[in-house]
Amino acid sequence: MSRPEVTNVERVAVIGTGVIGSGWIAHFLRQGMQVRAWDPASDAEEKVRERLTAVWPILTRLGLHPNASPDNLTFCATLEEAVADAQFVQENTPERLPIKIASLKAIDAACPPDTIIASSTSGYLMSEMDVECQHPERCTVAHPFNPPYLMPVVEVVASPRTSLEAHQWAVDFYRVTGKQPLKLTKEVPGFVADRIMEAVWREILHMIDNDMATVEEIDMAVRYGPGIRWAMMGPLTVLHLGGGEGGMAHLIHQFGPSLQAPWTFLQPPELTDELAQKVIDGCDRLTEGVPIRELEAERDDLLIRMLELLDSSRLWHIGNTNG
Ligand SMILES: NC(=O)c1ccc[n+]([C@@H]2O[C@H](COP(=O)([O-])OP(=O)(O)OC[C@H]3O[C@@H](n4cnc5c(N)ncnc54)[C@H](O)[C@@H]3O)[C@@H](O)[C@H]2O)c1
Repeated sequence: MSRPEVTNVERVAVIGTGVIGSGWIAHFLRQGMQVRAWDPASDAEEKVRERLTAVWPILTRLGLHPNASPDNLTFCATLEEAVADAQFVQENTPERLPIKIASLKAIDAACPPDTIIASSTSGYLMSEMDVECQHPERCTVAHPFNPPYLMPVVEVVASPRTSLEAHQWAVDFYRVTGKQPLKLTKEVPGFVADRIMEAVWREILHMIDNDMATVEEIDMAVRYGPGIRWAMMGPLTVLHLGGGEGGMAHLIHQFGPSLQAPWTFLQPPELTDELAQKVIDGCDRLTEGVPIRELEAERDDLLIRMLELLDSSRLWHIGNTNG
């Protein structure tokens, strides 16, 4: 089987159907594709079908392909069965290197040799995960943001063994399915977005651990401050505007020296049981007992409205030349 045109993909496989795998299933079903899935958990199919019922109204608001239907999802008894005929495979197994290596090896051995295999990993490099694959040239990282059926970006990161053609095929495929692919040819641990998020996460844990701020205070500070600006501009554009008419040049001149101030820890904190519990309890307080599924539905509704608003603005699209 040779690789299809990116616009002609009809059959995809999704391996691992938890938070991210089920989100990808929703995304591909919305595009009118046939999806074959496999997950070792005995209740996996039931959970995915429940989730699809919950998000179908959201997918409908986004716009469905004429062939889109939850009936186009088939749960398979084995990984091999799920990927045997696939024109594209999205791997979403737990974030553990031995599981990633074993899963990619099994997918690579069982799917047609040209089929692109994309991993949703949050930070492993494909060159760490493809070590037992016979055809590493068709493997790439494709890191989404949750929920994959709504968040535009997917970081498509090649390994030194990924062929240029396969990498570009994956980028183009995500684009035709409505994603905003970020094509990265350099393998950087954590890629771009998670590297930044990890730095923020470390800082948050330190502040909680040292009783510098509570979970509530941290969420408020970001929500009502940088979060709103980051929703419409990248952090560098935010800083560029922070320099007034002098832009980034003035900002660096003014705030450059404060980089030396001891404002951040940056080193990871020790994640003790006590610190973990403090964060977990804080989040339970913060969300006032509202069930996660209800929060997810409200998040999806707000995200669609925000994306519609942002899409109408030049500021949101400025500098978007990647891929
Ligand atoms: N949760 C997020 O926000 C997020 C965001 C981006 C990327 N990711 C990445 O997506 C991947 C999946 O994360 P998740 O949050 O969906 O996890 P999850 O725990 O919700 O789901 C993992 C699924 O994998 C299944 N599983 C366990 N062992 C397996 C195996 N050997 N083969 C196949 N499936 C197996 C589990 O039954 C479960 O359904 C990870 O690599 C993670 O880093 C997660």
